[in-house]
Amino acid sequence: MPLPSGGIVRPGQAVLAPVAAANLDPQHFPHPDTFNIRRTDNKHVAFGHGPHYCLGANLARVELQVTIGSVIRGFPGLALAGPLQELTWTSGSRVCGLSQLPVTW
Ligand code: HEM
Repeated sequence: MPLPSGGIVRPGQAVLAPVAAANLDPQHFPHPDTFNIRRTDNKHVAFGHGPHYCLGANLARVELQVTIGSVIRGFPGLALAGPLQELTWTSGSRVCGLSQLPVTW
């Protein structure tokens, strides 16, 4: 059962630091829920931190810049095909994502 912040950790209990929550910390990221591709002061931990920092971070950045740039240039009218509230998320895995992303262009 999750403990509130500041709780006592008893023997046998685990502590899990959710990286996603760190990346949405309003003390570090103003308007953290707003997608801002031009954010400059952006000390996120999506690629980890310290000795196990992601070895593929630079490759992943280039791949994403090429992919997102190509999609935006190729489909200038790209938009959601339905209401945002109707999108559903996958679950049951450490990595979540949209189960479908219907779009129109
Ligand atoms: C958006 C894409 C990616 C994200 C968000 C991501 C995220 C991460 C994170 C959070 C870690 C640290 C895990 C930990 O601390 O235990 C990690 C480690 C690692 N990543 Fe990535 N990664 C991405 C893409 C890639 C790619 C493209 C490669 C290789 C081509 C790669 C190779 C690795 C390797 C080898 C490690 C282990 C580093 C170590 O333990 O010293 N990653 N990644």
